[in-house]
Amino acid sequence: MMRKLCTTIGVSVLLMCHALEAQAGTPTSATDARAGIYNSSLDARVETLLGKMTLEEKVGQLVQYSAGQPTGPGTGRTDYEDMIAKGQIGALFNISTAKETNAYQRIAVEKSRLRIPIIFGLDVIHGFRTVFPVPLALASTWDPPLVEQAARVAAREASATGIRWTFSPMVDIARDARWGRITEGAGEDPFLGSEMAAAYVRGYQGTRLDAPDSIAACAKHFVGYGAAEGGREYNTTEISEHTLRQIYLPPFHAAVDAGAATIMAAFNSINGVPASANPLTLRQVLREEWGFRGVVDSDWESVSELIQHGIANDRATAARKGFLAGVDMDMASSVYHDHLASLVSSGQVSQERLDESVRNVLRLKFALGLFEHPYADETREAEAMLRPESVTLAQRAAERSFVLLKNSPGPDNALILPLSNRVQRIALIGPLADDLPSALGSWAGLGRGEDVISFHAALAKHVGEQNLIHVKGVGIKGGSDEDLAAAVAASGKADVVILALGESGGEMTGEATSRAYLGLPGRQQELLEKIVATGKPVVLILFSGRPLTLPWAFEHVPAVLAAWLPGIQAGPALVRTLYGESIPTGKLVVSWPRSVGQEPLYYNALNTGRPADKTDLTNPPGGSDDTYVSRYIDERNDPQFPFGHGLSYTTFRYGPTEISGSQLKASELSAGLHDSTDRTKAVLTASVDVTNTGSRPGEEVVQLYVRLNGTSVAQPVRALKGFQRISLAPGETKKVAFALVPDAFALWNDRNQWVVEPEKVTVWISPDSAHGSPATVQILP
Ligand code: NOJ
Repeated sequence: MMRKLCTTIGVSVLLMCHALEAQAGTPTSATDARAGIYNSSLDARVETLLGKMTLEEKVGQLVQYSAGQPTGPGTGRTDYEDMIAKGQIGALFNISTAKETNAYQRIAVEKSRLRIPIIFGLDVIHGFRTVFPVPLALASTWDPPLVEQAARVAAREASATGIRWTFSPMVDIARDARWGRITEGAGEDPFLGSEMAAAYVRGYQGTRLDAPDSIAACAKHFVGYGAAEGGREYNTTEISEHTLRQIYLPPFHAAVDAGAATIMAAFNSINGVPASANPLTLRQVLREEWGFRGVVDSDWESVSELIQHGIANDRATAARKGFLAGVDMDMASSVYHDHLASLVSSGQVSQERLDESVRNVLRLKFALGLFEHPYADETREAEAMLRPESVTLAQRAAERSFVLLKNSPGPDNALILPLSNRVQRIALIGPLADDLPSALGSWAGLGRGEDVISFHAALAKHVGEQNLIHVKGVGIKGGSDEDLAAAVAASGKADVVILALGESGGEMTGEATSRAYLGLPGRQQELLEKIVATGKPVVLILFSGRPLTLPWAFEHVPAVLAAWLPGIQAGPALVRTLYGESIPTGKLVVSWPRSVGQEPLYYNALNTGRPADKTDLTNPPGGSDDTYVSRYIDERNDPQFPFGHGLSYTTFRYGPTEISGSQLKASELSAGLHDSTDRTKAVLTASVDVTNTGSRPGEEVVQLYVRLNGTSVAQPVRALKGFQRISLAPGETKKVAFALVPDAFALWNDRNQWVVEPEKVTVWISPDSAHGSPATVQILP
């Protein structure tokens, strides 16, 4: 309906039509995303091969070991060659050159009885050799097609070494910045997380999974890992079914719908049942409800860890419970290798159940074309890496990922950013200005420090060495009084001071890096305060894999840019942004906390029975109105910056939200659920006029939120349901329209079903999750 409107109505609505077509989620490459493992013409080949396999060979396909660097020597075995020749290994990971993968593959293809190729995997998370910004930063672009392209580059590079499987995307919703792995995902929102999940899958898997430069995606960690209590790594999770369904599962569902060939089961337990032995999530949701036909891999030893969880007293029981719940392949722990055959022989695991998992693995290998092309082309390997267009894309991604948190007038009452080329002398101070490993972030694939152009190097090139005073100030963790004094002295000679502060990309973000304190580590806060005290104009560039709690900085520093961990083109991207050649358009995908005590902090929270409207501490609790409400007595409720926040070098004005559509009936909308990509199913159009009120051109990510009231289960105060990127010249106004499908109004109700209920819907189209004018519509029974 909407497409017809776009093509038949004249010029006045063209803009709206363009905006509709550019709406998030439009696949740019996939022709049939669910081909590959869903291609039933592979089934006959799978069955023929399965029919020839012995019990030991079947188990072998379900065994996966780590065989090399970069993340460690694996399980300590030295007999991989021998095991491969006997058909006892189906997959290897952590090998990353064509020569090495080919050497192992030759054994599988030439020496094993059935010549079943090995599938090689690696954590290719935000690039392989061309390292892009960390995933939290990539999500902050709000640009799924760009993320798709980044994943395509990663696939091309990785596949050139024989790696045909990446353990990415990580689609865990993270609502707590203490959790170090927040850096690996797309933040706190299920809608944005789903768009990003699908984009990665399309990028990795391409239009055909059997193309030699496509790699199988692995949506991980299924499920709820990001809900770790206290933000403490690997901790327990307690997640109600409706929160699981509405918040944690949707990005996985989106990945599966986009054709993700594999899923990784998580380390955490969910309501007491470990995710790696969880029939509800692995069997009922994934297989029965979503029809997933791919491979479920365990996480590293997550099946043997069922013993530590306390649901198995020995390794054989752990193997049985993990396998029966639905984990097809055992990563690293060897419990399937050691026990699965005897579990089948003794009847504790049925032959049918074994065959089901083996089918899944064989189907993946056929879908990837591994039987036809088992080897990497060693001549293609070098030229696939760091191609100029890949490096350009890494720079563009970094530029788009930066979030301008604050840009207020400095001491001379003028905006500091963008910097003018007339600014003569710059002092660049801070430990992150030329920390190459930090720029790469965690899980940096085969990225090398030498590939990174540091912020320091790029700035020196731009302003000339003679105009740049560079001192480290202090280290990320350490630093002396002399270091501090040298930094203060350096700033005295400069017109503007740029501080490059934050956390270490390698050691303080990623797996096993939960933090209880989220301020600047070491003496960096002291450095910051001393530099601001000089009275010089200061720009703070924050390098981090998570939001940091820096209330002092946000009060006293006029300009703050969240640069995250920007990848190999960190320097050029930052310089272009600071000097206004690239205008910031990134928006936060996490609520930025004021203090650790606010965590977990997320915008799509429930209202409670006693919501607190005003928690500003200049208005402390006193009267009964402000006391017996849901608040802290010593901290505000609202974040430092809300989800969706991000400034530009220009300003935008939003008009009122307008909605139009025919009468909405809950029963009809419920019948139309789960067709969210088909815009012709739109039931309501919401629109807003956005004006560029500044003097520079700019791009804006326009966001649409809804709230549902009067439902059987309480719903979030706001939930993102759409976003679009528009560009506006100074003074220009555009109408931005969103076509909403029934899914936008759905909830997981009190009878455990997805439905649209008779409910009052409030819609905001706004620059972030905390602003915008509301419009309402009533959905009838
Ligand atoms: C453990 C991590 O949790 C997971 O994300 C990763 O893919 C595996 N190790 C393999 O390296």
